[in-house]
Amino acid sequence: MGQAIAHAFAAAGHPIQLAARGAAGLDTVQTDLALRHGVDVTLHEFDVLDSNGFGGFVDGLPALPGVAVSVVGYMGEQAENEQDQAQAALMMRTNFEGPAGILALLANRFEARGSGTLVGVSSVAGDRGRATNYVYGSAKAGFTAFLSGLRNRLAKKGVHVVTVLPGFVNTAMTEGLDLPEKLTAEPSEVGAAVVKAVQKGRNVIYVRRIWWLVMAIIRNIPEPVFKKLKL
Ligand SMILES: NC(=O)c1ccc[n+]([C@@H]2O[C@H](COP(=O)([O-])OP(=O)(O)OC[C@H]3O[C@@H](n4cnc5c(N)ncnc54)[C@H](OP(=O)(O)O)[C@@H]3O)[C@@H](O)[C@H]2O)c1
Repeated sequence: MGQAIAHAFAAAGHPIQLAARGAAGLDTVQTDLALRHGVDVTLHEFDVLDSNGFGGFVDGLPALPGVAVSVVGYMGEQAENEQDQAQAALMMRTNFEGPAGILALLANRFEARGSGTLVGVSSVAGDRGRATNYVYGSAKAGFTAFLSGLRNRLAKKGVHVVTVLPGFVNTAMTEGLDLPEKLTAEPSEVGAAVVKAVQKGRNVIYVRRIWWLVMAIIRNIPEPVFKKLKL
């Protein structure tokens, strides 16, 4: 999804700073982005679990970006998360603590500059805790609430915050899962939706709008009924 978002921004003329673990291995992605869209593309080593490195990471960028997108995430297995505390903690740090930490730092830099857009890729899994996915979902719920608060804080400071709730997307994370076609987006759809949301100043987007309805229904099932369902 991250690469598709990068392509969508590059196609709209934005220079790209790609941050990842093992960033040097993204050299072919870098070349492809630069050749296809004619924009500058740089690679930056980044581990969302290494909060001590966040300051050095931001200071090492060629320029403070106009738009920063946090796409990092990790789903793992719910059954394993229920039994293994370390695994559950890794999930929470990767989906909530880390992304919130790096966006908090960028938020302060953007606020000082008086401009910029922060984008957080969260999940509909954060809209309500469900038996089959609540460890991942609770971390995303935390991230969604964090983004909401950040947006509220920075609304009058020239800094905009977009929350992206992708629904199902065909990526490495969902490989092997039998996903319903109508509810499943392609990464390129997410890329286009994110660029549009940034350009139009949207606050919260469900990439496929049907997910808004699905989650509105799930959120409104009364708890006595909900606890008897296995969703
Ligand atoms: N696919 C879906 O259906 C779906 C639905 C809703 C939300 N999402 C969210 O969308 C985002 C993108 O997911 P995806 O579907 O594109 O899955 P993905 O291909 O597994 O992407 C997750 C990315 O996070 C990176 N990452 C994990 N731990 C990291 C760390 N400690 N430091 C830096 N990077 C790290 C991974 O990098 P490595 O290559 O180094 O592991 C990978 O590039 C995630 O936040 C995910 O939770 C996905």
